Amino acid sequence: MLKKMVNNDELIVALNNALAWELRAIAMYAHYSAYVSGIHRLQLSVFFNNEVTESIAHASTVRSAIVKLHGKATTERAEDPILHSMDFRDMLEEAHKTELKASETYGKILPMVEQIGDSELFDALEVIYFDELRSVEELRMMLG
Ligand SMILES: [Fe+2]
Ligand SMILES: [Fe+2]
Repeated sequence: MLKKMVNNDELIVALNNALAWELRAIAMYAHYSAYVSGIHRLQLSVFFNNEVTESIAHASTVRSAIVKLHGKATTERAEDPILHSMDFRDMLEEAHKTELKASETYGKILPMVEQIGDSELFDALEVIYFDELRSVEELRMMLG
């Protein structure tokens, strides 16, 4: 059986899904950075803020890719609700789930981009994919 080829529309849908998750990550990490309290605030507030910055950069790369493909980039974040908590462990667990989801999302997109044959876009998205994997591992270690 012939492998179904990916078309640009499918790739745009997948990229918009990734963008929506980045927009959600920006909101979630900014929220946790503001609320994290206690002795861990010193480090975790900075950690969450760095994740905001990274997610903004990821969103920018993905958005540019959608523009390049003549698609319409979403301005809505992924619908999964963001858990509000004052407990830093809850925050880290939610962050871990989010990063796992992000790495899965980019893991699915990379083979699609490979099929399209845009090596520049592939490289840019592969960098993001490795960022997400690094975050998953970092959070796994932080959760102990
Ligand atoms: Fe990201
Ligand atoms: Fe991330």
